[in-house]
Amino acid sequence: METTITVPGGHRIPRLGFGTYQIAPHDTEQLVSVALRAGYRHIDTARYYRNEAGVGAAVQASGLARDSIWITSKLPIGADDTDDVNRAIDATVDALGTHVDLYLIHWPMPRRNRYPRTWQALRAAQADGRLSGIGVSNFHQAQLDRILAGGGPPPMVHQIEAHPHLANNDLRQYGAQHGIATAAWSPLGAGSVLRDPAIQSVARELGRTPAQIIIRWHLQRGDIVLPKASSPQRIADNAAVFDFSLDPHQMARIDRLDRGEEGRTGPHPERL
Ligand SMILES: NC(=O)c1ccc[n+]([C@@H]2O[C@H](COP(=O)([O-])OP(=O)(O)OC[C@H]3O[C@@H](n4cnc5c(N)ncnc54)[C@H](OP(=O)(O)O)[C@@H]3O)[C@@H](O)[C@H]2O)c1
Repeated sequence: METTITVPGGHRIPRLGFGTYQIAPHDTEQLVSVALRAGYRHIDTARYYRNEAGVGAAVQASGLARDSIWITSKLPIGADDTDDVNRAIDATVDALGTHVDLYLIHWPMPRRNRYPRTWQALRAAQADGRLSGIGVSNFHQAQLDRILAGGGPPPMVHQIEAHPHLANNDLRQYGAQHGIATAAWSPLGAGSVLRDPAIQSVARELGRTPAQIIIRWHLQRGDIVLPKASSPQRIADNAAVFDFSLDPHQMARIDRLDRGEEGRTGPHPERL
């Protein structure tokens, strides 16, 4: 399996990303360094996580070529017009000490109803060369329709909650039809899916851990996957997913675990 996904425009995004939500600022450099040594080449952070500086320090200390690592970050909530967006980009680049490869609108905040304007501000920053890739997170289909109607290329990536208990197939298919790659956040259901008996059964069959089974399922569906872990052992374990595969029957058993909305573990995007 390819370890990267090629998106329109030719960028190659590493499919396995290290999630850093709830990794404390003082632990971030060490844990991202562990992740880079374990083979992750994509780090997912956000202004909101307060740990961009640790991400940047680890990337710098790794000695790896900067263009071999993909950094995704996200706009702070409430930054929605051109000045806010430009200030936020500056703050992220300062904290990282390097450019950001992909910058996302973190939440659409539908009650504020400013995301179409925010998307135009991101497009302008991209046109000025201040940003390379731009994308969105936590949108629903009508919101994606609205920003696509504004013209220009689609978001490079749509980052959404997705895991075996919330497969989110409608949004994934919409993305595939419109050239938008899907990235799965909380890919382990924030840990809850690890205990699912069907996952544990496939794990026993293959002599793999439940986390590896779930991460491999995401990869075989074609998504970018962003697991978070906070011990070096788990971080390395979750990266050892390119030397085995699930057969179609095992994939189908996991596909059947979808609970739709009942499986959601994070906030509902419409309620923010
Ligand atoms: N765009 C958005 O709005 C958004 C929202 C939420 C998350 N995200 C991104 O998605 C990333 C992942 O989501 P997440 O952190 O919510 O959940 P997750 O990756 O689905 O699950 C993380 C949980 O699973 C545990 N875990 C990980 N690997 C394990 C293993 N091998 N064995 C046992 N337990 C394991 C972790 O424990 P320990 O930490 O104790 O090791 C942690 O409790 C975030 O870090 C963030 O980058 C984005």
